[in-house]
Amino acid sequence: MSTLTVDDLTKEYGDVTALDGVTFEIEDEFAVLLGESGAGKSTLLRCVNGLTEPTSGSIVLDGEVVTESRSDVGMIFQQHNLVEGVSAYMNALTGSLSHVSMLRSLMQWQSREDKLQALEALETVGLLEEAHQRVSQMSGGQQQRVGIARGLVQDPRLLLADEPVASLDPSSAETVMGYLKKAATEHDVTALVSLHQVNIAAHFGERFIGLRDGQTVFDVRRAELTPELIDDLYGNVDTVGLADTHGDGPASEEIEPGPETEQVLAQ
Ligand SMILES: Nc1ncnc2c1ncn2[C@@H]1O[C@H](COP(=O)(O)OP(=O)(O)OP(=O)(O)O)[C@@H](O)[C@H]1O
Ligand SMILES: [Mg+2]
Repeated sequence: MSTLTVDDLTKEYGDVTALDGVTFEIEDEFAVLLGESGAGKSTLLRCVNGLTEPTSGSIVLDGEVVTESRSDVGMIFQQHNLVEGVSAYMNALTGSLSHVSMLRSLMQWQSREDKLQALEALETVGLLEEAHQRVSQMSGGQQQRVGIARGLVQDPRLLLADEPVASLDPSSAETVMGYLKKAATEHDVTALVSLHQVNIAAHFGERFIGLRDGQTVFDVRRAELTPELIDDLYGNVDTVGLADTHGDGPASEEIEPGPETEQVLAQ
């Protein structure tokens, strides 16, 4: 059970305003961040994780202001950030430590509780049997599940993931997202996950925050997520990709919801 409150968050990089007054609150939800490339999704996640210092605004987790990277916030990256040469178990065991301190900690004795927690986390993502397999011998999907397990071992109150399935094929992406959702549900953590795949977002998300140019353009629950909102989020920019998405040439004034979007939302 946890509450993340983001209030009037702004982040500027020189002349670039990556986040521009973002405000929202999520509580015990599986929230998805949507938006085109450059919308500010990664910047938002990095600010929430304390990896990036905001220019102004505040981030509060369960009443405490987030100012630096903290152990009760688990982060899952697109590139798994795993140590490839060691086992899934070792990767999970060392939690979200940095690579250097991770290698150091591999030499050290871990408590029985830590070990059990690592195994439990691997069980959550369906990899208990593979615990002693080297990460370098695992598929991309399995590696990302190890990444999720690692994010879980420190018993986070908040789980952040930046495009956790971007490099996976559609079927593995579904599987990995299923485990991520299960992990968040079983461990009772609030999750904030950026995704590019709208169909996967609609399938797993409970709450949807749409960003454009660093601003929130929608913040809705599952039942209020309409194809129009999604098409508006991705449809206002005149690109070749847009024509492809909608299948029938240049965008008209009123963009019809894509058939795929309709289908997913109808489920
Ligand atoms: N370290 C940085 N220095 C300067 N500008 C940055 C930095 N990080 C991000 N930006 C800029 O901030 C804006 C938001 O970037 P961000 O990476 O948050 O977008 P995103 O939504 O994650 O995009 P993508 O979907 O491509 O990952 C972009 O204009 C980007 O160029
Ligand atoms: Mg990004």
